[in-house]
Amino acid sequence: MDCKIIVSGMRPTGKIHLGNFFGALNNWLTLQNTHKCFFFVADLHALTTASEKTEDLTKNTLDMVVTWLASGLDPEKCTIFVQSHVPEVSELNTLLGMITPLGWLLRNPTYKEQLVEIFKKKYAGQIGDDKTAAEKLAMLTEKELSEIASFGFLGYPVLMATDILIHKATYVPVGQDQSAHLEISREIARRFNEQFNTDVLVEPKALFTKVPKVTGLDGRKMSKSYGNTIEVGEDVESLRKKIMTMFTDPNKKKATDPANPDGCTVFTFHKLYNKDFEKRCAECKAGALGCVACKKELFEYMRPSFEEFNRKKQELLKDRTYLDKILADGSAKARESAAKTLSEVKKAMKLY
Ligand code: TRP
Repeated sequence: MDCKIIVSGMRPTGKIHLGNFFGALNNWLTLQNTHKCFFFVADLHALTTASEKTEDLTKNTLDMVVTWLASGLDPEKCTIFVQSHVPEVSELNTLLGMITPLGWLLRNPTYKEQLVEIFKKKYAGQIGDDKTAAEKLAMLTEKELSEIASFGFLGYPVLMATDILIHKATYVPVGQDQSAHLEISREIARRFNEQFNTDVLVEPKALFTKVPKVTGLDGRKMSKSYGNTIEVGEDVESLRKKIMTMFTDPNKKKATDPANPDGCTVFTFHKLYNKDFEKRCAECKAGALGCVACKKELFEYMRPSFEEFNRKKQELLKDRTYLDKILADGSAKARESAAKTLSEVKKAMKLY
């Protein structure tokens, strides 16, 4: 076991789809065997953008943990917890907020992108998609901006830095979309150490693992906002139906037409679920079988892991006591590690 520390979290914003699975969770499943890992549900981060709509937060948090466990994340191998169950995070967040220049947060590109997202929701249907993000941002008045973006929202990267620095993470497995946030975490650690002449905080490195490309049913990137997803816990009948609607090579009109598997959504899934995908590639190019047959076979390759997942999920949902115990144990372990860093930080800052 490599004792390098890994920290990563996900916001509980709804069901996990295969894009999320192959982009992150699948990677966590490997890392838990080789590193000391902390994986958490970032429920406080969820509040940075949807604080007025929390009715699904509990359900989504639990659903996320169940999804992780049913996918094979093992509480014996890694620490699984809910961010808000570790109050040390909120305390360190306050302290790190004191040393973070406002400019770093205002310049953060994700802050601007997210503002546009909030903007889109606010003006849904009123403003066309022909405007660029910058144009939309420019349409917001100073007053509107200060109303939709909360203090906590601007502080998103400080909270994320806290999650990471509080466990002295060596590596943080994140997607490219989070690299600006990770850079701020590194800057906060560096600034803290310089300012207080210490080495208490560790500069984390991003761990960008090569992840397979997961396309949605329509061939675009799989994304909830495109409505083209397959959920990790998709019911098998619904999985079958979704596979049948997958986008294929439009030049293949008859079953015997040779086709090009690159750019065929069905083929991208064969690559993920069918060990003999190269054989399938050759058959497709030779026009040896039709798309319907190819889809039916894909379903048979995918079906077992979905059945297995759903079986485990049902089992877990029946035992709420067990789930609560996992989260209680996880937060106890996370709090122990967090409290240690927090007390070092306070000492370095000369708090009495
Ligand atoms: N911001 C991350 C995301 O949206 C979630 C997150 C919160 C996170 N804290 C983190 C990821 C710490 C890695 C480490 O995906």
